Amino acid sequence: MTTVTTPVPSDSIAEPWATEQTITCRDDRVGLRAVIAIDDTTLGPGFGGVRLRTYPSTEAAAREAQRLAAAMTLKHALAELPYGGAKSVVMLDGPAPAPGSPQRRALFARFGEMIARTAGYYVPGVDMGTLLEDMQTIRDDGGARAFCDEVSPSPFTARGVYQAMRAAAVHHHGEGGLAGLHVVVQGVGSVGAEVARLAHTDGARLTVADVDTARAQELARELGGDTVAADEAAFHEADVFSPCAIARVVTHDNIARIPARIIAGAANDTLDDPGCAEALREAGITFVPDFVANAGGVIQVHGGVVGWSDEETLAAVDRIGGRVTGLLESAQEHGITPLAAALQRASTVLGREISA
Ligand code: NAI
Repeated sequence: MTTVTTPVPSDSIAEPWATEQTITCRDDRVGLRAVIAIDDTTLGPGFGGVRLRTYPSTEAAAREAQRLAAAMTLKHALAELPYGGAKSVVMLDGPAPAPGSPQRRALFARFGEMIARTAGYYVPGVDMGTLLEDMQTIRDDGGARAFCDEVSPSPFTARGVYQAMRAAAVHHHGEGGLAGLHVVVQGVGSVGAEVARLAHTDGARLTVADVDTARAQELARELGGDTVAADEAAFHEADVFSPCAIARVVTHDNIARIPARIIAGAANDTLDDPGCAEALREAGITFVPDFVANAGGVIQVHGGVVGWSDEETLAAVDRIGGRVTGLLESAQEHGITPLAAALQRASTVLGREISA
């Protein structure tokens, strides 16, 4: 009698046809299990970061890679960059190998070889858990093209988020921008701390939150602001809420508890589901789509590729402000959400219908 083994659902790819390509990579000799999702290459090679973390299942890892890759497609389309959308995740089953260790180098060298097999259709960069030196290993030992191998994109991402936030404030409150407004930043790591500093320089009052409470307290002292518990940040009295840490902080269940009238941050996938955008609009809250606000990093990367001067790069990042103004005006004019306006724009650029 033959025994048929049925694949366990949690070990299957979540959405087999969600992307142009979803590739699994495995090499037990170096402990590599990774998923590369190439969402759409209409505009150019798929570019997106490598995320290094633990996942409850292969399905969860694949789903995250695919979701984030789709967001990269939108990000590049809205920022008018010649890249497609892609993302990869390297699954950990314990603590990450230490930076500089032979294990880490072997892991990323092998992953680089797997990336090289995509023949340039996937170009990696840094993301949660990965470092510039990992991109150098992918490039030098793996033989693959890699971005973010010399300069951190985070300060540019922060500057773009700040410009997005400021544009939304001007849309709501007039030319004064952020002056006198209360801004709450959730997550004050490399992007959030800089967003807080830029908003402070512009005259905003700051409240900051981080699971690393010492980090939040130190920044609050620097800016003369306050702190709030990390999981209460969205519900703290404020004019602007800036999520710069984890995904899916806005849910259908918690929108009624959000006092801010503007949400603009760096965190990818801020909405638990796209339907939250309409619920936010009905609640009178302007949500700047994350993939529009957080494009500063990829714009800087592109500037490096094509040889822009520092001034040209900063000017291109600052254009995120004008883009947000355009989306908010278009959304207002047509009675739709800024997310719907952004998806309409992406549909035009990509030449296919993209719905939420
Ligand atoms: P980071 O790792 O430097 O900082 C994240 C901060 O959030 C840390 O201080 C961490 O302690 C804190 N944190 C973690 N969980 C939290 C929670 N539940 N509540 C409050 N704080 C929490 O990361 P980075 O680079 O600043 O990125 C922030 C977000 O922006 C991430 O979602 C990332 O995917 C997104 N992003 C970052 C880009 C970049 O250029 N770094 C580009 C586009 C998006």
